[in-house]
Amino acid sequence: MIELKTEMMIGKGLHRECYIHPYNADRCIKVVVLRGEEETRREQAYYQFLQKRQIGWEMLPKFYGVEETSMGAGAIFDLVRDADGEVGKTFEVYFGSSVLTEQNLQGLIKSLQALKVYLFRHNIITMSIKPKNIIYQRQDEQNGVAVIIDNIGNSDVIPISSYYRYFGKIKMTRKWNKFIALLKKDYPENSLLQSQLMHLLSK
Ligand SMILES: Nc1ncnc2c1ncn2[C@@H]1O[C@H](COP(=O)(O)OP(=O)(O)O)[C@@H](O)[C@H]1O
Ligand SMILES: [Mg+2]
Repeated sequence: MIELKTEMMIGKGLHRECYIHPYNADRCIKVVVLRGEEETRREQAYYQFLQKRQIGWEMLPKFYGVEETSMGAGAIFDLVRDADGEVGKTFEVYFGSSVLTEQNLQGLIKSLQALKVYLFRHNIITMSIKPKNIIYQRQDEQNGVAVIIDNIGNSDVIPISSYYRYFGKIKMTRKWNKFIALLKKDYPENSLLQSQLMHLLSK
């Protein structure tokens, strides 16, 4: 059994806490702390579905299965680290700071454009897309990768969009445009971000 310690916690969402894996600094362990069983089930089912399709994992952390921990079942994923070894920060952190946005503007926008291409190319379906669920894996001042760490999968009773690209594209165009609308609404004071949003909208 893996012992999880508070000082190893790197993040916390509505449902889960995320810890650095004690034996592997490149992996993290997520444990459910508040009503997240259904989300976890959906996520793991969707990961299995993607694993069969053999997509590349550049913008999605790989999933390594479940291990028993001192806090219950722990789901093991790649831990997203910047080029300097620091744990990557979410777009919520970057866009919440005008300074961080200015220092990394090109990379932030380019990486989101690339994430959009990746999601559409592989027909990856998500629930709502939010800046707190995407990590900017920073490489340098101009470059980085947007990695989506949470809320992937399909909750439709008949998940036709997962199987037919045509329907996937319709669904994901809607989700993506909602994401851009959210950035518009949630960061009105970040004028640099606002000036770049048209580059991120779907046609
Ligand atoms: N693969 C990862 N690499 C680095 N940090 C992560 C990773 N996954 C999650 N985190 C951090 O942990 C937080 C909570 O994880 P998340 O999966 O979003 O939990 P929840 O399902 O509760 O929203 C994230 O917002 C992020 O800060
Ligand atoms: Mg989350």
